[in-house]
Amino acid sequence: MIRIAIFGFGAVGRGVAEVLIEKRDLLNGLIGDYRVVAVTDSKGGIIDENGVDLRRAIEIKKGNGRLPEGVTTLDVIESVDFDVCVEATVTNIETGEPGLTHIRECLRRGIDVVTSNKGPLVVAYKELVRLAEKNDAKLMFEATVGGAMPIIKLVRNDLAGNEIYSIKGILNGTCNYILSRMEKERLTYEQILAEAKELGIAEADPTYDVEGIDAAAKLVILANSLMGMDVKFDDVERVGITNITPNAFEIAMEKGYTIRLIAEVDRVEEILRVSPRLIPIQHPLAIGGTLNAALIKTDTAGDIVVVGRGAGSKETASAIISDLVELFRCRGL
Ligand SMILES: NC(=O)c1ccc[n+]([C@@H]2O[C@H](COP(=O)([O-])OP(=O)(O)OC[C@H]3O[C@@H](n4cnc5c(N)ncnc54)[C@H](OP(=O)(O)O)[C@@H]3O)[C@@H](O)[C@H]2O)c1
Repeated sequence: MIRIAIFGFGAVGRGVAEVLIEKRDLLNGLIGDYRVVAVTDSKGGIIDENGVDLRRAIEIKKGNGRLPEGVTTLDVIESVDFDVCVEATVTNIETGEPGLTHIRECLRRGIDVVTSNKGPLVVAYKELVRLAEKNDAKLMFEATVGGAMPIIKLVRNDLAGNEIYSIKGILNGTCNYILSRMEKERLTYEQILAEAKELGIAEADPTYDVEGIDAAAKLVILANSLMGMDVKFDDVERVGITNITPNAFEIAMEKGYTIRLIAEVDRVEEILRVSPRLIPIQHPLAIGGTLNAALIKTDTAGDIVVVGRGAGSKETASAIISDLVELFRCRGL
């Protein structure tokens, strides 16, 4: 019986809970029996060692309600027996908190961690990996980069034995949506951004996305975890998309190019940057809408391209569930 605790019960935490409810038969076949023994949000939580009523918890949060007060995530870590934590609290790439403390405390106790939270990995990747090794725990983070698009386990498992020369990717769906609409409709950045906010594709404060901060955080995770580098967020050269004009698209398209926000790490060329780049219209990275994509250059396998939905509650849950299955496979929990 795998006992799971879910920290953070927003879009991703609830998406995971929904998949755990809806796919119980399928997942029982893959990981055996499981139960969620605790869920928490920023102000409270539910603990039930016989299994939290996830449907009820989802209902409470969907109605903008709060989980019952009086339970904190740290209480759960200290007092509840569980095997794996799903850490899906808010990202903070400066301090990594609150996720960094949650992850440290779980790993210290030998509890495996599956997370969608970029902050702790951007701030303290090496420390967390060492902590996990020291305590014979696993740290899984497929969901931090590319949502449903497989990249971490793809490189680690399916491309094992390859040297990774470079990864070039579209790692922010909001920017890609804005740029691909500017390409098609030649409207201004401001016009598309306003519509994207209305559609819920862009946040009310879109700085994190449009200044390339989110993509840079993901790039740091890829560089450190897949390319053996030891880079920090501030090492990333970063330019966002706010100054791109319809005219820039006009000129690019006349020459057979489009413009995309590309996150790029290249060991040979010593590149670590996020910036708008000219991309040939037929290139696999010239994708449209909110999709994410990555082109991975390797020594033996050659070039590999992956494309997928980079965000969304269920899409991100897909990556978290795949990490849970991987955990089970390597541990037989
Ligand atoms: N949404 C996506 O498509 C997506 C994709 C990939 C990665 N991610 C990452 O996944 C994480 C979750 O994203 P999301 O979209 O689910 O965010 P969200 O909807 O804003 O939910 C965040 C959750 O974290 C909770 N929280 C904050 N502080 C907490 C604490 N100390 N203890 C326990 N819970 C705490 C919040 O509580 P309240 O409910 O009380 O506010 C909320 O339930 C973020 O790190 C995000 O960057 C998201």
